[in-house]
Amino acid sequence: MTAEIDIDALTADQAAQELERLSKLLDAANRAYHTEDAPEISDAEYDHLKRRNAAIEERFPNLKRSDSPSEQVGAAPADGFSKVTHAVAMLSLGNAFDDSDVADFDGRVRKYLGLNAEDGLAYTAEPKIDGLSLSLRYEAGKLVQAATRGDGAVGENVTANARTIADIPQDLDGAPDVLEVRGEVYMSHEDFEALNTRQENANQKTFANPRNAAAGSLRQLDAEITRARPLRFFAYAWGALSAPLAETQKGAIDRLAQLGFQTNPLTALCESPDQMIAHYRKIESQRAILGYDIDGVVYKVNNLALQSRLGFRSTTPRWAIAHKFPAELAWTRLEAIDIQVGRTGALSPVARLTPVTVGGVVVSNATLHNEDYISGRDNKGETIRDGKDIRVGDWVQVYRAGDVIPKVADVDLSKRPERAQPYQMPDLCPECHSAAIREPGDAIRRCTGGLICPAQAVEKLKHFVGRAAFDIEGLGAKQVEQFYADGWIAEPADIFALRDRYGQGMQQLKNREGWGEKSATNLFDAIDEKRQIGLARVIFGLGIRHVGEAAANLLAIHYGSWDAFSTAMRTAEEGNAAWDDLISIDGVGGVMARALATTFNQEAEIASIDRLVAQLQIEKAARPDTDGSPVAGKTVVFTGTLEKMTRAEAKARAEALGAKVSGSVSAKTDLLVAGPGAGSKAKKAAELGIETLDEDGWLDLIGAS
Ligand code: IVH
Repeated sequence: MTAEIDIDALTADQAAQELERLSKLLDAANRAYHTEDAPEISDAEYDHLKRRNAAIEERFPNLKRSDSPSEQVGAAPADGFSKVTHAVAMLSLGNAFDDSDVADFDGRVRKYLGLNAEDGLAYTAEPKIDGLSLSLRYEAGKLVQAATRGDGAVGENVTANARTIADIPQDLDGAPDVLEVRGEVYMSHEDFEALNTRQENANQKTFANPRNAAAGSLRQLDAEITRARPLRFFAYAWGALSAPLAETQKGAIDRLAQLGFQTNPLTALCESPDQMIAHYRKIESQRAILGYDIDGVVYKVNNLALQSRLGFRSTTPRWAIAHKFPAELAWTRLEAIDIQVGRTGALSPVARLTPVTVGGVVVSNATLHNEDYISGRDNKGETIRDGKDIRVGDWVQVYRAGDVIPKVADVDLSKRPERAQPYQMPDLCPECHSAAIREPGDAIRRCTGGLICPAQAVEKLKHFVGRAAFDIEGLGAKQVEQFYADGWIAEPADIFALRDRYGQGMQQLKNREGWGEKSATNLFDAIDEKRQIGLARVIFGLGIRHVGEAAANLLAIHYGSWDAFSTAMRTAEEGNAAWDDLISIDGVGGVMARALATTFNQEAEIASIDRLVAQLQIEKAARPDTDGSPVAGKTVVFTGTLEKMTRAEAKARAEALGAKVSGSVSAKTDLLVAGPGAGSKAKKAAELGIETLDEDGWLDLIGAS
């Protein structure tokens, strides 16, 4: 290393030269390390260069380069954060879009709890902050961990970054021993504008909206960058707790405020849907002057004991809902209609628009759903947009709400170009030129190319490596497209043969941007890690039509093993025993059953699935969280009147404990829970010698009395 001039002794010219030299050195070091996997300098030397660069920049702020190394986090992968498994999952919220949805929500809550319309039931109503959620864990009053939501189960460890946010206390006085505070990280409008101006002046990337700016600022590998970004935090919920915060939602929020958190001043207690809607209107009227983005109002049942009785559906609480503000709108030109071919062969028309800003986000594409939608009819055949069709060249109104994909809401016929023609869906797949047909009763036109259609194959592969399926680290949509185009993978089984193929000439991968010996080996290791995998992920990963994540879970739990599942699917035929067993699963209907049976009936599909399965060790599926449950695996029937909970609540609780709840008594029934007024079912159970309990006996059994 050449002798370095002391920073205090540098002239401005020397400093500019030195910054240029450091920028080049650090750039080369980054490339060597991240892309070529062949570091040329030691970590200590690298750190020294980075610190020297920062120190010179601090002395000569005007000389800071537009490509300053201090703004770059190397070619670092996003997986630079360690992972945190949330002690209590971070869920999302169901949505309400209009006043009647709010009344329906109240109705559902009351029904579940068995309350009448006259019974008192209070809710909190507060702004829904448009930022990103963060979970802060305090132990003995000290902040020990901060994690992003991630997929709800596992987030990213951003503790160092969170410590730089002024609204987040590092120490708490008088808090429960374990306290996970949850809330939203956001950026004010003023700070967002100032940040973008700074970014622009420094020739750096600007952000589309405050939410993106907040997310980009929090998820920095270098916490010093986060420190320089003006992030804020509102607390509105909690995760794990060693002692309750209060008896009510409002009480808990007040307690968080006492502990030193910012809580939203527009939080109100409401006694009815009318009051909730009135508060929504009040918040909406103040939206423009709040100084930060909100996208709706969140209502939560105030009584925490009722919240816990209400519990959760798979991804959302029953005790809360987000009442969204209406979508934002803008007019623009429809330049073209492109067709995308999906995993199941569906042809989806996509609008290519002259870019337009809608609610702070630049929109250049919008979904057009299907040919009926384009021609002005919904999927029930009823007219939409007053029956106006959509043509290339049209002046269209685009709207978006939250993260929802933009849609075309309206067409201005007065601006329609004279030669605009009605849109005609292609009857050949644009990707493989197989016939694209629309079956009676289906709004979607589908490519009949199956496995030979490259678009379907690629989409299937992307689905296969996706988060809820095989979730292979380092193998995302981009890599799948590249490998497919290069002919390395055509179906899921090929992914597991990549390491061997690499040995036989795939080394050209190494010459590709972003791939080195080390990253290839890392990828193959990540693939090998997924050879042993849960049954539900395999079923979901197959990408069978109508079989979503929840259905895959149900199927896995029902069949328990791959052999049992695949044997059943291969034999299921409408009307036979395997079919009846399949559709007896609560949550599996005829449409899904048909899709499964069809897939397992096609030779090419079966061969492809068999090739995949030969590469895997598929774990047996066990019912989650029912260890020690006295009713796990049992079939329970409820009859008569339940006095301590509603039927829906009883069913949900029993299912959560691993029981199957059935509506009728048969020889398969293990247990009947009979309340007052039980009639023929109790009689039949007695005849069959089935164990019968009253409601208290049931509550004793499940340890809930
Ligand atoms: S309560 C169990 N309250 O909205 C759910 N969420 O769509 C607890 N959000 O992931 C969430 N403001 O990031 C809650 N006042 C608020 C909120 C809020 C914004 C976000 C949060 C959540 C998302 C759900």
